[in-house]
Amino acid sequence: MERPKVIEVDRRTFLATVGVGAIGAMSHEDRAEELEHYMMHKLEESVAPHGGGEDSAILDPYEARLAREEQEARAPRGTGNLFMPNGRQLEPMPARPTLEDFFRLRFAPATHVLQSAQHALQTDQPESTIMACLLHDVVLNMIKVDHGWWGAQLVEPYVDEKVSWGIRYHAPLRFYPDESVGYEYPEMYNRIFGEDYVPEPYIREAYEYARDHPWYMEARMITLNDTYGFQEGVQPDLDQFIDIIGRNFRQPPEGLGYDNSPSAHMWRTIANPNRPL
Ligand SMILES: [Fe+2]
Ligand SMILES: [Fe+2]
Repeated sequence: MERPKVIEVDRRTFLATVGVGAIGAMSHEDRAEELEHYMMHKLEESVAPHGGGEDSAILDPYEARLAREEQEARAPRGTGNLFMPNGRQLEPMPARPTLEDFFRLRFAPATHVLQSAQHALQTDQPESTIMACLLHDVVLNMIKVDHGWWGAQLVEPYVDEKVSWGIRYHAPLRFYPDESVGYEYPEMYNRIFGEDYVPEPYIREAYEYARDHPWYMEARMITLNDTYGFQEGVQPDLDQFIDIIGRNFRQPPEGLGYDNSPSAHMWRTIANPNRPL
């Protein structure tokens, strides 16, 4: 299949965004995470630019640096999008929120996961894979550190075990190629981090565990579909996945966050990021 047009990441722009001082202090792993988040930010900008509003004055480079430093001083880089200062007014959630409500009111535009899931759908992959792709990075709205593990935990009570297993291990697997499915080590990582990048030992160990597991392909296909999730200016519609969600996500009647599941508090956190204690 022909590769899609992916968003361009200019090394210098990326480094400038992160901050030269900050990049020097980062491990390779942190830089890989930072790149992925930067790409998603650029992707969402490509379908829903933030410009035009009253609060969106264009900052000169000095002001931009001050604003960035202020933001960095306030929020560690592993902080989820909903906890970053961005001036966005969150709409209230319904009393018994569904996954669809979370997509529309908290995860939107969710461009990257929708594109990944759409690729899985259009290439006739199993519904469990489509579901996994749809959910694989939504936890980045809450937390970015070790997002495969957090992301799996978030959805574990509501999906087939293979779906959450795949989400957990997609994060370590993305650093390791698998020619059998056409997944190459992302060229982007070479350009940004250099050819000598070596993932941390716990990442390697998780990869080796997953590689030898009968469910390996559940995680591997997420990493493959992920590479189709960075197409500029494409915003897939959530509606095409509503039936698949209905069949593959056990929506609690009390609403996500109110069913006393092991991850209910995480859904409440996403619903109410401004609530203290
Ligand atoms: Fe991911
Ligand atoms: Fe992803």
